[in-house]
Amino acid sequence: MEKKNIDWGNIGFGYMEADYRYVSYYKDGKWDDGALVTDPNITLNECACVFQYAQTVFEGLKAYTTQDGHIVCFRPDLNASRMIDSAERLVMPPFPEDRFLDAVKQVVKANAAWVPPFGSGASLYIRPYLMGINSVIGVKPADEYMFRILVTPVGPYFKGGAKPITIKVSDYDRAAPHGTGDIKAGLNYAMSLRPIVKAHEEGFAENMYLDAATRTKVEETGGANFIFITKDGTLVTPKSNSILPSITRRSIMVVAEKYLGMKVEHREVYFDELADFAECGLCGTAAVISPVGKINDHGKEICFPAGMEEMGPYTKKLYDTLTGIQMGTIEAPEGWIYTIE
Ligand code: PLP
Ligand code: COI
Repeated sequence: MEKKNIDWGNIGFGYMEADYRYVSYYKDGKWDDGALVTDPNITLNECACVFQYAQTVFEGLKAYTTQDGHIVCFRPDLNASRMIDSAERLVMPPFPEDRFLDAVKQVVKANAAWVPPFGSGASLYIRPYLMGINSVIGVKPADEYMFRILVTPVGPYFKGGAKPITIKVSDYDRAAPHGTGDIKAGLNYAMSLRPIVKAHEEGFAENMYLDAATRTKVEETGGANFIFITKDGTLVTPKSNSILPSITRRSIMVVAEKYLGMKVEHREVYFDELADFAECGLCGTAAVISPVGKINDHGKEICFPAGMEEMGPYTKKLYDTLTGIQMGTIEAPEGWIYTIE
């Protein structure tokens, strides 16, 4: 498969129109067979539930080229099951897990020319999404749905690659008024648009959201979970039922314990504790593991001494092991790697 003529090492996190996308429709209580199509545009009725009441959920995962030339995905079964949970919360029909995996395989295979080569630092971002498409004007769920997957090659989520970023404590709560952050739904992200614009205007890369009830506990950022490293090398990561259950974070917990022999704590993390941590990072499909050097709390700075100039030593070990597993240079735990071709 001849690759597209792209400067893979220098692409950012943006949308490029690949050749194929996957589409399946739900009507009269069942999903159709689904198909690959070439048209990137969607035409819908003006009163479609997705437009009026934001009835839409999505997922994010990546495909990688391994050192020995295969194309693989990382734990797509967990994206399939999380999407089912998100869909249930917005009263949408689940797209079955086996169909999800097959659709990912079809669309990545068809777009193999867009999968960045091994060692380029880029990967193919895969965005499954599901929306209510028939017209509704009273507040109720749709009866008809569209499931789609688009793919686009991406580079690092944060500008500057592996250089530590500075984030701010958000002035906003991330959760949508009637929802929580634990579903990957369009409305949650719409509610984070104003905070992210504000953060960027002020020169920060992301927002740290605190729990909405007390604003004393660390939740997550707009697009990633947090990891912290204590001075004695323990991985601490916030536990909350109002943050997205990050697949990357769940994987890092296993990597830390089983591959690196680190102690792992998954617990409530109080904002007041932050000054005691040695390293801080953001983790997610897009963020991978991005080091945080500084957190700005309304003018007061919290600095992580081990990670101000470059990734701290524990964060680096976690990053190298995780990406090694994803790209096939380190043996993965059973079932983590889904081979596309
Ligand atoms: N939290 C939020 C709000 C996200 O958007 C993401 C990205 O998907 C994550 C966390 C990380 O989740 P994952 O590791 O499953 O990509
Ligand atoms: C992902 O990591 O897949 C996300 O959805 C994060 C998003 C901010 C791009």
